[in-house]
Amino acid sequence: MDFFLLFCKLCRQIRRNPMRKITVLLFVYIFLNILNINALEYEIYDSSDTASYLVAREIVDLVKSKENQPVVLGLATGGTMTSVYSHLKNIIKEECLDLSHVITFNLDEYLDLPLSDPESYHSFMFTNLFETILYSEQNPKGIKRENIHFPNEQDVDLYDKMIESYGNIDLQLLGIGRNGHIGFSEPGTPFDSTTFVVELHQTTREDNARFFGGDVNNVPKKAVTMGIKTIIEAKKIILLAFGDSKKEAVKNAINGEISTDIPASILQKHHNTKFMLDKDAAQLLQNQETIHLFNGKFLKDGKIQPGELWIQNGKFVSEKNNCEIQIDLNGNIVAPGFIDLQINGAFGCDFSRNPEQIEEAAKGLLQYGVTAFLPTVVSSTPETYSKILKKLQPRSYGSSGAEILGIHLEGPYFSSQYGGAHDQFVLQDHYLNDINSIYGDLEGVKIVTLAPEITNGISLINELSARGIVVSMGHSAATYVEALNGIEAGALLATHLFNAMTPYHHRNPGIIGAALIEPKLNYSIIVDGFHLCPETVKLCYQLNPQGLILVTDATEALGLKDGIYHLGNKCTEVLGNKIYIAGSSTIAGSNISMNMALKNLIIFTGCAIEEALEAASKKPAQLIGIYPTKGSLEVGADADFVVLSDSLDVIETYIGGELSFQQGG
Ligand code: PGA
Repeated sequence: MDFFLLFCKLCRQIRRNPMRKITVLLFVYIFLNILNINALEYEIYDSSDTASYLVAREIVDLVKSKENQPVVLGLATGGTMTSVYSHLKNIIKEECLDLSHVITFNLDEYLDLPLSDPESYHSFMFTNLFETILYSEQNPKGIKRENIHFPNEQDVDLYDKMIESYGNIDLQLLGIGRNGHIGFSEPGTPFDSTTFVVELHQTTREDNARFFGGDVNNVPKKAVTMGIKTIIEAKKIILLAFGDSKKEAVKNAINGEISTDIPASILQKHHNTKFMLDKDAAQLLQNQETIHLFNGKFLKDGKIQPGELWIQNGKFVSEKNNCEIQIDLNGNIVAPGFIDLQINGAFGCDFSRNPEQIEEAAKGLLQYGVTAFLPTVVSSTPETYSKILKKLQPRSYGSSGAEILGIHLEGPYFSSQYGGAHDQFVLQDHYLNDINSIYGDLEGVKIVTLAPEITNGISLINELSARGIVVSMGHSAATYVEALNGIEAGALLATHLFNAMTPYHHRNPGIIGAALIEPKLNYSIIVDGFHLCPETVKLCYQLNPQGLILVTDATEALGLKDGIYHLGNKCTEVLGNKIYIAGSSTIAGSNISMNMALKNLIIFTGCAIEEALEAASKKPAQLIGIYPTKGSLEVGADADFVVLSDSLDVIETYIGGELSFQQGG
């Protein structure tokens, strides 16, 4: 039996029969380790343009990382790729990228169509990419014409040999056909095929008729295409699929059986393939089966109460009969998944420094019950923002990681007096009425922390609020009156209250006073027992329990051992639960997890479990305007939830109704 069929069966058994869970998990674990098999990874983006940009960025990073060695790119054509190439051209130009060591192999080319025809793939590639990046005397860093390869009918075997002679493709781009083809390897193509001449299927010709005046008869009948064997020898593969028409093919490729009927399904066996999808292409990836959660205690209407819940297509639904999956919660607590609005990094990824590794953090956070978060960026230069913000754009990893909801920009409009761990040299003590000059286009930004008292600070708050961005006041020397002005202009939150702001004074209560007595202002606190002593946490809770939102302000050290780490461009030193800028006494974020923070909150304040849970789920969701879709267990909400023991240890985390973390799993 095919290992993968067995694997899929085992997965189903885990869900259907909890009694076999341990044996099955052990079996799967051994399987995965011995056979080095990974499930297909996918990422779902709100914007296909963001996904395209990230692919272009990844190509550029690869080219830069191999300065003096050949970089072999497998390139695809088709509508999906145009925006990748448009971003790629821009980045190459902006960064004066050296392409002298780049070698490209195109996936396919039509037959019986002159290369000069505008619809040939030669023309496509030259028009969309090569023309502007080609080597010439004026462009000595350009790609050399002799390094650009297309398959042709005469030399099919030579094509694979050439690719092999370079040690195979480093990064292969793929689209997917409605019928599941990759390149032009149509359904039925053997998985061990090398470059060959293919007769195009009717679906493919119909789909491509849009490039040939809408007439299928004008679409060539044959093509030459890179074989599947050659494709899957690539070291890394990125498959892009956008739009409703790809949804079946995507579902079959990722969740279906590996079969030559769906050529892309073979990618399940490739250890380094990523699908990058938009929401339309990903819509069938949700579990279609109905799930019944029973024998649990559910946080609903502010109370933990016995009951049941039903899930379909990743959302809570009203009562359903005959559910396919029954989940016995063994009397445990079920709460909405935790949402961390301020987190600088985790598991070795510092979002301001190596944001390309954010997936590691997103995966790791699941064990703490976090199902969604706002990666937070420390005060940076415009150049740094322009490089990293695109990499932190909203996306979902399905059940394999916490969702990125958007970005929290902490700084740089801060008081230099309260810069804390932020780089003093990049702080801005005045706003020049040009919001984009520092941050760029602000795409995906959900929260900006700033000091309201800086010059033109109030107009900055007005401007950000008008764009639907939540303004939080922090790293600030604001007086009480300045804080009130900030609230008046639209500020909704105070960032890590007490830390990095004017201390409370009986004649100048500052932001602290405002947060504790003004009902309109929420405040976040870091409850690690170090940033605030337990009594201060209790004071906050007693004065304004409604406004309290838990954040971790965690850094890349979260989940890792003591040692030397980073926060932006600074080195940090981690000693137990204390993190400092190395060699100083300046506190630099935390390494507390969200579920530890909520346990601490209960211990420090004596608050109800429900209040602590809501401070980590409902409240943050409300603040950024995504409640009740997130942060609730109501019918219609996303089925992102955490199963907790009575002592609030995370037993399981679910995203979209799919098990994504299991204690001891
Ligand atoms: P498309 O084609 O990007 O034009 O949708 C992809 C493919 O058929 O492989």
